[in-house]
Amino acid sequence: MTILVTGGAGFIGSNFVLDWPAGSTETVVNLDKLTYAGNLENLASLASNPSHIFVKGDFGDTALVKQLLATHQPRAVVNFAAESHVDRSIHGPEDFIQTNIVGTFHLLENVRGYWGGLEGDAKAAFRFLHVSTDEVYGSLAKTDPAFTETNRYEPNSPYSASKAASDHLVRAYHHTYGLPVLTTNCSNNYGPFHFPEKLIPLMIVNAQAGKPLPVYGDGQQVRDWLYVKDHCSAIRRVLEAGAVGEVYNVGGWNEKPNLDIVHTVCALLDELKPRTDGKPYKEQITYVTDRPGHDRRYAIDARKIEQQLGWKPAETFESGIRKTVQWYLDNPAWVSNVLSGGYRDWVSKQYGNTAKAAA
Ligand code: NAD
Ligand code: DAU
Repeated sequence: MTILVTGGAGFIGSNFVLDWPAGSTETVVNLDKLTYAGNLENLASLASNPSHIFVKGDFGDTALVKQLLATHQPRAVVNFAAESHVDRSIHGPEDFIQTNIVGTFHLLENVRGYWGGLEGDAKAAFRFLHVSTDEVYGSLAKTDPAFTETNRYEPNSPYSASKAASDHLVRAYHHTYGLPVLTTNCSNNYGPFHFPEKLIPLMIVNAQAGKPLPVYGDGQQVRDWLYVKDHCSAIRRVLEAGAVGEVYNVGGWNEKPNLDIVHTVCALLDELKPRTDGKPYKEQITYVTDRPGHDRRYAIDARKIEQQLGWKPAETFESGIRKTVQWYLDNPAWVSNVLSGGYRDWVSKQYGNTAKAAA
């Protein structure tokens, strides 16, 4: 048996593909366009594994996807491919519309054609799992209850709007055509192979480089953090036992303000790799201009997946963040190869002259 994964060279997709062989002998066909966020180094440990087939290409490329589906006859498609960075979506929304909306539409069309041609057990067992985000639900006030699967969609950034549109398309393909879809809406992930444009890896990398640690606005925005391997186990569980057409929120009950996250990363680095001048890393914290339209708070109510599918995260925030900081310390070659790419241009575009005060 085979599954087709899209975006499996990115942060979450590569963790998913790397973890897959531990629980399955099924082949993974990994289709990834290798945008700036796709990194084949993430998959180096699978280089000699014949059950991992990497294909460089666009998930919106009809000819390619049709050919992959016909050749490999997957029993499931897991869709990670996306533009994923909110700040980039503010600077340039078009790629987000093309990839997250138009790309997902083409993928759905091609999967619908393939599924329509299946018969019997193969048709009944087929699943299309769409990996989405809690950001589609918008922003919570301090005392609002956490997002459930029935919350209204109120996306606030071009990124979250494009993900919301893709979720709606997935839903519509189930209701209109009967495509057996599953959707997961997860909170903020962190862990190995996280591209250092996102908060946690950026802080780890900048701290060690002696650079400012840029905190947007007052740093009191709240995110709900989940270790990436726990997100991957949730996706496997939903693929295995989720009810067709259902949505599952995935989260770790770990709401934290950004400034607390940055302080935690600094404290771990103080312990694991102290600054040579003996000063604490938190001295590098710098408040910068806030993100336009910045969502104040996300929080996931994960009771549905816990109660209906028996899924629970394995890591606490404390254990997961320690593993994560240690991973970055143990993998300097991965970090320096990422930093020597186009990432540097992005950093100067985003943070150019926005530093306004040192903490
Ligand atoms: P990422 O940006 O690290 O990786 C995205 C991957 O998709 C990259 O490898 C990229 O090359 C690939 N890709 C982009 N466009 C493509 C295309 N047209 N065809 C094929 N491949 C393409 O993203 P991530 O953080 O790993 O997120 C994966 C998915 O999970 C996304 O759909 C994202 O919206 C969702 N998600 C992310 C988080 C998070 O905290 N990172 C949380 C919830 C949901
Ligand atoms: O909630 C799930 C989402 O989490 C995913 O759908 C997105 O793909 C993923 O990128 C992430 O979005 P966020 O915008 O929450 O993540 P990011 O790491 O960019 O930012 C986390 C918080 O930290 C956010 O409130 C903005 C803030 N921040 C971020 C950066 C990069 C800073 O204060 N400074 C920074 O330099």
